[in-house]
Amino acid sequence: MDIHVSIEGKGDRSERIFRQLLDAILDGRLRPGERLPSTRDLAAQLAVSRNTVSVAFERLVAEGYLDARRGAGTFVAHIDLNREQATPRQTRRSAPRGEVRAREVWRNVPDPLWNKPRPIAYDFSVGTPDPSLFPLEQWRRLVANELGPRFLRAGSYGDPAGNADLREAIARHLGIARSVRAAADDIVVTQGAQQAFDLIGRVLLEPGEIVAVEEPGYPPVRQLFESLGARVVGVPVDEHGIDVTQLPPKTRLIYVTPSHQFPLGTVMSLERRVALLEWASRHGAVILEDDYDSEYRFANRSLDPLQSLDRGGRVIYVGTFSKTMLPALRLGFLIAPASLRSALRSAKRLTDWSTDHVTQAAMARFVDGGHFSRHVRRATRVYAERHDRLVEVLQRDLGDRLVVLTSAAGLHVAVQPIAPGANSTGIAARAQSRGVAAAPLERFCASTPGTEGLVLGFGGIAAEDIEDGVRLLFRR
Ligand SMILES: Cc1ncc(COP(=O)(O)O)c(C=O)c1O
Repeated sequence: MDIHVSIEGKGDRSERIFRQLLDAILDGRLRPGERLPSTRDLAAQLAVSRNTVSVAFERLVAEGYLDARRGAGTFVAHIDLNREQATPRQTRRSAPRGEVRAREVWRNVPDPLWNKPRPIAYDFSVGTPDPSLFPLEQWRRLVANELGPRFLRAGSYGDPAGNADLREAIARHLGIARSVRAAADDIVVTQGAQQAFDLIGRVLLEPGEIVAVEEPGYPPVRQLFESLGARVVGVPVDEHGIDVTQLPPKTRLIYVTPSHQFPLGTVMSLERRVALLEWASRHGAVILEDDYDSEYRFANRSLDPLQSLDRGGRVIYVGTFSKTMLPALRLGFLIAPASLRSALRSAKRLTDWSTDHVTQAAMARFVDGGHFSRHVRRATRVYAERHDRLVEVLQRDLGDRLVVLTSAAGLHVAVQPIAPGANSTGIAARAQSRGVAAAPLERFCASTPGTEGLVLGFGGIAAEDIEDGVRLLFRR
């Protein structure tokens, strides 16, 4: 391995080399068993005599930090680090603490350092599909197929808008499954929906401009737009969707989840869709339609997306493969009116050049071959059973304490207490100590703290575990 050793400065060079190697061994950068470069190579690298390096090595050998094996080389010895742990230099190195502060806005964004995962016996957490439904073998074959010489020959950054076959496949699929009106050129492939939101914010928002988001709503969207310098305003949602009459008149961007409101689960009515489009057109606003999980439909046919009702080019449609496939693939897309295409493609290029090529190409084959539709149909049957079971158990056993909000799609349902005095956050916290994960509705309320209710996902729990999970969740 190449070791960075600095011999600049006054004093004995052998001593400097000795100290730096010793530090690297003690703080773990050089690990037991690791082979050092030969004295000849290190001397050449540092432009010093071989003897200078040899003196440092011999001292480290003599003190037991290195093993010199004749004919094989010099290795870091298997020393007992506990013996050495007394002095401060032996702690693992980390970057200096520093005095530089992030912008004020980042104080309000929680650090995403994951809490240590606790054992979860009954998982009602929101937002994740069941990984056991992921078509692993087929995906492995598709990826292996793409990871060949063609991939190496392509070799460069690629089109920032994304793999052309995938964009064709998405346009075709959405045209049939969701009546979205789009050609491949209208699409930008992104790292999940979240990057699509980021690109849209970058190309549309001047500092201080208003973004209206649903209240309750999806926290990462609110936090993202705030971090981009926008003024984010929560607008209440009723049983028809976002309350258009409460939109601030100067709103530039309106973020909505019309097919399956996050987190309440309601569907925006057709009247409200029309009212929202008219409002946007009158006020020169743009609508961001997040269609994050409507592929899983359990009841009647879905209403047409806002995008397909939009005649004025005011809607940007965002989709993701996080729910249908896996969040870890980081694959999503946006469909924008032609007037925004060029800026969005440029924003994508300036942000990360392009999305991973192999994943995109594999997904293109998966969609094109009809596998994606089949996979979604199969998964929908599994989730429909869980959805029906969860609603049935909740209504049967807790119907006198709470209402289950109707939700005809997606991977979660919301419940709200009927009587005052419930403490949903307390219920969720107690449940967690019993190995049950569920989110209090309050977590999704930025401007209405104290809202009671729970959001229950069913991507992570088998139908046969739902009854026991619900019992444990609501045990007093
Ligand atoms: C409302 C909403 N939008 C979008 C997403 C998907 O985000 P991404 O595609 O970045 O994984 C989620 C994921 O939980 C979500 O809940």
